[in-house]
Order: sequence, then C-alpha cells, then structure tokens
Amino acid sequence: MSFLPKNIRTRLTLWYVLALTFILLLYAGVSITLVYINLRNNLDDQLQQDYEIVENLIRIMPNGTVHIDSDDDPYFHERWFQIWSADWKLLYESRSFTGKILPPISKSVETTDGFHSYSLQLKNNVDLRVLSGKINIDGKWLFIRLVRDEESLWNQLSNFMRLMLIALPVAIILAGFGGYFLTKKFLSPIDEIADKARRIGEENLKERLPVINPDDEFGNLARVFNEMLERIQKSFVRLKRFTSDAAHELRTPLTAIRSIGEVALQDYKDAKYYREIIGSMLEENRQLTHLVDNLLFLSRTEVKNFKTHLTKLELKSFTQETVEFINVLAEEKKQTIIVKCESEIIVNADRTLLQQALLNLLDNAIKYSPENSEILVKVNIAEDNSAVIEVKDNGPGIPGEHLVKIFERFYRVDKGRSREMGGSGLGLAIARRAITAQGGTLTVKSEVGVGSSFKIIL
Ligand SMILES: Nc1ncnc2c1ncn2[C@@H]1O[C@H](COP(=O)(O)OP(=O)(O)OP(=O)(O)O)[C@@H](O)[C@H]1O
Ligand SMILES: [Mg+2]
Repeated sequence: MSFLPKNIRTRLTLWYVLALTFILLLYAGVSITLVYINLRNNLDDQLQQDYEIVENLIRIMPNGTVHIDSDDDPYFHERWFQIWSADWKLLYESRSFTGKILPPISKSVETTDGFHSYSLQLKNNVDLRVLSGKINIDGKWLFIRLVRDEESLWNQLSNFMRLMLIALPVAIILAGFGGYFLTKKFLSPIDEIADKARRIGEENLKERLPVINPDDEFGNLARVFNEMLERIQKSFVRLKRFTSDAAHELRTPLTAIRSIGEVALQDYKDAKYYREIIGSMLEENRQLTHLVDNLLFLSRTEVKNFKTHLTKLELKSFTQETVEFINVLAEEKKQTIIVKCESEIIVNADRTLLQQALLNLLDNAIKYSPENSEILVKVNIAEDNSAVIEVKDNGPGIPGEHLVKIFERFYRVDKGRSREMGGSGLGLAIARRAITAQGGTLTVKSEVGVGSSFKIIL
C-alpha cells in the first residue's frame, strides 16, 4: 500500500516541497555555522587587540611586582584580564573580574608558546571567550589571559536563527503553492489529450489528439499516439474494405446458384437437363469453396506469429514437379511451359507455401496469355547468392498504373474478364504472402503487349 497520493500533480508538489525543505535546512545549517564562525573570529580579533594594548601597559617594579599603567587606556576598566607568573601564580586581575571566578590557568595548554583561544561557561551560565598568551618582559616570563563575554555573539546568532525560522516555512509554503500551480500548468496538456482520446471512436477515427507544443514530451506523446491512430485507422479501413469485398465476391456465386436453381424449377425438363443444371451449380460451388479456401489461407497466414516449416528443398526437381501439376491447364490452351535450370539448387524453404505461390503465378501466366504461347520458368542463382524462380509469359502485360496494386486482395486489372476466367483477385496476394512469410520477395516486371515476368526471390 502506498501512502503517496494517486494524483501526479500532488505527488510532484510533495516531492518538490520535500526536496526543497531538505535543501533549505541544509542551507540554514551551513549559514548558521558560517555566521557563528565569523562572529567568533571577530571576537577573537577584538581579544587580540586587547592583548596588544595590555601587553604595552605591563610594568615590572624593582621589587618584582607587576604594575599596570592604566592611564594610557581609556577603556581600561572595561577590559577583563589576568596576569600569571611563570610558576602559575595569579599576579594581577583587572577590576572587571570582581565576583567572577575563572578556573585557574591550564598549565598544559595555555602556557605553551603562541596564542590560545577557547570558549568556556561559568557556573551562572555566562559564556566567555578566552585568549591567553606568553610574554617576556625584562627577562621575566608572564602569562596574559584575556576574557570577553560571548553574550552579544549569541544574541546576534539567535537573531539570525529566528530570522531563518520564520523565513524557512514561508519560503516552503510559497514554493509549494508555486510548484503546485506550475505542475498544474505543465500537466494540463495531459488532460486535454485524455479528454480528446476519450472522444475518439470507430465513427471519428479520422480525428487526432491535440499537439500543444510539438517539441516537448507531451507533444511527442500526442504525436506518437496520433501515428498509432493513423495506423489503426488505415488497418480499420483496409479491414472494412476487405469485408465488403469478400461479401461481394461471395455473393456472386451464391446469386448464380440461386438463379440457376430458380430457372430450372420454372418448368419440367428431362434428366439430362437437370444433370447439366447440377453441373453448373457444382461449378459455382467449386468457385465458392476456392474463394473461401483462399480467404482462410490469407487470414491464417496474416497473423503475426505464423509459423513456416522450412526444409532443404532442391529447386530444379521441385519446379519440374510443380509445372507437371498444372500442365494440363496449359495443354488445354496448347501452351508450352519450358523449365530452365542449369544446376541443382538447394534452398531453405516451406515447400507447401512455395508451391502455392508458384502455382498461382503459373495459373495467371496460363490464364492471361493467348493460346499456343510459350511460358518460361527459369531457376537460377543471382549475384547476391539468392535463389530466383522467374515465371515469364508472352501475354498481354499489365499497365504500369496497375502494377503496384495487383498484389492487393481482390484487385483485378480487368474485373469482368478476370471474373469470367474464374479469378477473384486473391492469387497474387496469396503468392506474395506465401513468399514473404518465409523471408523472400515477389516482384513483377511487365510491358503491355510484350508480356509479364514474376520473380520469386529466396
Ligand atoms: N501473367 C499475367 N498477365 C497479365 N495480367 C496478369 C498476370 N498475372 C496477373 N495479372 C493481373 O493481375 C490481376 C491479379 O491477379 P491475381 O492472380 O491476384 O487474381 P486473379 O488471377 O484475377 O484471381 P485468382 O488468382 O484469385 O484466381 C489479375 O486479375 C490480372 O488482371
Ligand atoms: Mg490469379
């Protein structure tokens, strides 16, 4: 279970405020430390100045006692200092010390060479800053210890901290509101996109999502969705056309069967006549079955993960076998099919699919070229090591504007003529699908009045 709110806007703002709070706290911590160090350095500087003044005021009397020449120093009475002898005896203490008890000088630290500064707290919670140093006057070693109250330092620091304490929440609240409104503004395209997407359906697939700023991420998202809509729309249109084409193609033989039956029922005839009628009906039925088989083949092979069964195939004998299969049709039209293959060629192919494709090409060549013509089937290896089966005829050829479309389902150059020949316009669509399914290509070259050449490249 997540404790975060579901809404991205609130979530972003929360994270933002959290990160900002962390950064501001860090910033406040660093600032307070720096201000403290700065104030303490100032205090130490003042103590150092005091030290130099006091140093110049010290006189050693002939009897060995210490005397302070306070007349030269207008602030003498405000300074706190002690003078200790080399054998740890307190020799002098300024009047400001009255009533304040300082711990005795630390022998290990304060009497070594150089200056020493440190803070200490008296029993009555008074914070002090101490500076001590060692000097030599007239050959005699003395220790000077100076003190200043840290009260003003802590006052300034607490003022600064109070300021931070007030400014920090105000800054966080302001930034939170600002962040919320900014994320709201930046995320607003999502609402518009969702709103539009909700209204796009089957009936208005043409419409597109709004691309508010094409260069930002949401613009990109909308563009990608629009491209997807484009593809969906295209395949939807294709599917619709396919369904209506298929229905149309199925209707023709069905209507033919019905009208043949109706005519036959009109008056009583002899058995020979009925046999003929049944024969025509069976012929229409054969076409219908062929059409349905073709449609089934296409829908079966057009699924994305359609599996082919690739095996080692010798093309020369395969082509000869396939040609023999369909040769009766050519003989009916007194056509000759010549197979040209110089050597044996082994390919990895799906035998059934390849045969289906080649049969469809041969069927077209026989169907569309005139009687007594010659059809050439050439098998060879191309320069790029691919195997090529070419079916070449001396038929009427296909005009250029139709060439790109003949592989579409139900597309026929001359609808009337092709249908008379029993064609439904699926032969080439199936051939191409059968070849591309096993990684090959099917191309066409044709010249009107000269002939056509289809190439299966594997
Ligand atoms: N060898 C060819 N010579 C001339 N035209 C051709 C040739 N092959 C195909 N065509 C043209 O291309 C169209 C599409 O061919 P396709 O094989 O797909 O359909 P079909 O032969 O009409 O019907 P089906 O093959 O389904 O029985 C044909 O209608 C025909 O007009
Ligand atoms: Mg055909």
